[in-house]
Amino acid sequence: MRKKIIAGNWKMNMTRSEAASFIEGLSGKLNTKDRDVVFCVPFTDIFTALSALAGKGVYVGAQNMHYEDSGAFTGEISAAMLTDAGVTHVIIGHSERRQYFGETDETVNKKVHKAINAGLTPILCVGESLAQRESGITEEIVRMQTKMALLNVAKEGVMKTVIAYEPIWAIGTGRTATDEQAQEACASIRRAVAGLYGEDAADAIRIQYGGSVNAGNAAALFGMPDIDGGLVGGASIKNDFAQIVNYDSKG
Ligand code: PGA
Repeated sequence: MRKKIIAGNWKMNMTRSEAASFIEGLSGKLNTKDRDVVFCVPFTDIFTALSALAGKGVYVGAQNMHYEDSGAFTGEISAAMLTDAGVTHVIIGHSERRQYFGETDETVNKKVHKAINAGLTPILCVGESLAQRESGITEEIVRMQTKMALLNVAKEGVMKTVIAYEPIWAIGTGRTATDEQAQEACASIRRAVAGLYGEDAADAIRIQYGGSVNAGNAAALFGMPDIDGGLVGGASIKNDFAQIVNYDSKG
């Protein structure tokens, strides 16, 4: 049985004081017994989030990092800076970073390698655009993105990686994929992992769904056989996040 993992992606939201009061209101209400919970916060909120969440069994993640160790990369953050700060997870290859900040399958692959080598859990994002879905190539796209992101990554690292299937047309739009669409894409990703690394790796790797997850649709999505939780954007900075985390896994 794979443990569910529910991660909030705060994106570019929350000053330190906002983060502190939001977490204070929420942290005692989160079920962390049989599920992993991660808050992926802006860099400036990392320490605030870690201290507000101390002892609560919730992880703090980042939303990006660079693949080089150090050097002349103005504005970037390294894996070592994140681990030293106490971060355990990092979102890699989010579609907003691919779209607005020039991330490619190649840079995503380098970041996955670096994150794993640094002991961070990558939350690797893949997903098709609306045009790709409408052309009937969703499966090819997500399989290709998965394979390119994992190129030359050792099996042991892959088994610890989390993949987030996030159809671009569902992100921030209120238009959630149906349970069946999300299941189908997550199953294709799992089959791609099985083809590369074997059934045991495919059984171990956790695959999330992301894209307009909310308190009303989380339980059904997370209940699908190949969906091991969610990556939540807009609803992760609202009190709804507690309801999403605490979704009833017995349906
Ligand atoms: P959303 O974002 O939940 O606001 O659609 C998801 C994401 O971008 O990770």
